[in-house]
Amino acid sequence: MSNNSAKLTIGDESWDLEVSPGSVGPSVIDIAALYKNTGHFTYDPGFTSTASCESKITYIDGDEGTLLYRGYPIEQLANQGDFLEACYLLLYGELPTKAQKDDFVQRVTYHTMIHEQMSRFFTGFRRDAHPMAIMVGTVGALSAFYHDSTDISDPHQRMVASLRMIAKMPTIAAMAYKYHVGQPFIYPRNDLDYASNFLHMCFAVPCEEYKVNPVLARAMDRIFILHADHEQNASTSTVRLAGSSGANPFACIAAGIACLWGPAHGGANEAALNMLAEIGSVDRIPEFIKRAKDKNDPFRLMGFGHRVYKNYDPRARIMQKTTHEVLAELGIRDDPLLDVAIELEKIALNDEYFIEKKLYPNIDFYSGITLRALGFPTTMFTVLFALARTVGWIAQWKEMVEDPSQKIGRPRQLYTGYAPRDYVPISQRR
Ligand code: SDX
Repeated sequence: MSNNSAKLTIGDESWDLEVSPGSVGPSVIDIAALYKNTGHFTYDPGFTSTASCESKITYIDGDEGTLLYRGYPIEQLANQGDFLEACYLLLYGELPTKAQKDDFVQRVTYHTMIHEQMSRFFTGFRRDAHPMAIMVGTVGALSAFYHDSTDISDPHQRMVASLRMIAKMPTIAAMAYKYHVGQPFIYPRNDLDYASNFLHMCFAVPCEEYKVNPVLARAMDRIFILHADHEQNASTSTVRLAGSSGANPFACIAAGIACLWGPAHGGANEAALNMLAEIGSVDRIPEFIKRAKDKNDPFRLMGFGHRVYKNYDPRARIMQKTTHEVLAELGIRDDPLLDVAIELEKIALNDEYFIEKKLYPNIDFYSGITLRALGFPTTMFTVLFALARTVGWIAQWKEMVEDPSQKIGRPRQLYTGYAPRDYVPISQRR
């Protein structure tokens, strides 16, 4: 294989395949015409070696443990910027000027309310419904209220839909929480920044004034930045595939929420905290490490391992720092689950099984401890992930819709079922 071509040989036939370089990271071998030319499909369940698209939004180096949003390292964006600035960057490709930022914040702020009729959707759910079930249903229903931003061929409508999603997700997420705990909905406030507004909608009650703690709001904002985008993960790929059929953006985001819910993906933050609680104390850690290594035991260390990161997830490091900041601000001297998490990480990172398989903590390992300290029940953890990831889903959806070469996604298969056979009348079946 030369730098710009690869040779495929099957039997006595050979084909040259074009190799295209990325700006950073792996090159790709273009196989788009493979079936037409060779009559063969490639086979890659789970897409471990498959690039599904070209993108300029997010880059991950799994071996180095680096994450870039439009070329900027996540550490710099999380420590120096804020979430709406990161939203602008992911959507438009550049950091905003002061004027652009102020205009964007203003546009998002004035889209935070949802149609009053939508509040009736919540009353259809049981109070103990999982908030993610409420999110899937309610976000999918947005297309029933915002017909004027569902024509994906209109750039203006695409941008309006994008802003509406970013602006309304905190309101819907807070309403899902309030409904879950049986408290009245709290309207968004235009005088609060994005993260403060979300905390206010979640934790304010009509009986008294609720003052948002700026340290906690900053932590919430940083957590949103960490979760904003992550190249072609399962839920983003779901959004792209749904969008490739021309489905409206609200329906595509609802599909992404549904996929994110899985414990192998965004549901891992809830599962990780439940796991830490099940372990309960550091002396029980060896028992669970043993189970995680046992091929016959389906148990896995939740919050550990990653398809791409074969090094420490850079977001986990920032999340761990944020955990300590939040616990210190709240005066929580010792959190037994944090003690278990820190000891579990130390033991796992020195265990040959985890070293050999390159399993490190991912973003979900520490996030649950932080979110619980902020006052959220575990059932809300993946909702917060979905809230933050909405901008990434929308940016990736927009990039796909605006890509002139995009077409409906339609993978093939390796068929190992029956060859053609004739129908047998039921009277002749044994
Ligand atoms: C997210 O893709 C993204 O970018 C996702 C995400 C994002 O921002 O969008 O980063 C968010 O989803 C983070 C990941 C959260 N999930 C978890 O924490 C759940 C626990 N982790 C595992 O389920 C697993 O690590 C995955 C699903 C995250 C990754 O699975 P892969 O890449 O398919 O790896 P694998 O299942 O093939 O595992 C490789 C080996 C296996 O052993 P062998 O079959 O080779 O002997 O490692 C083992 C696995 O058994 N392994 C684990 C393990 N994770 C993998 N063993 C114990 N505990 C674990 N957590």
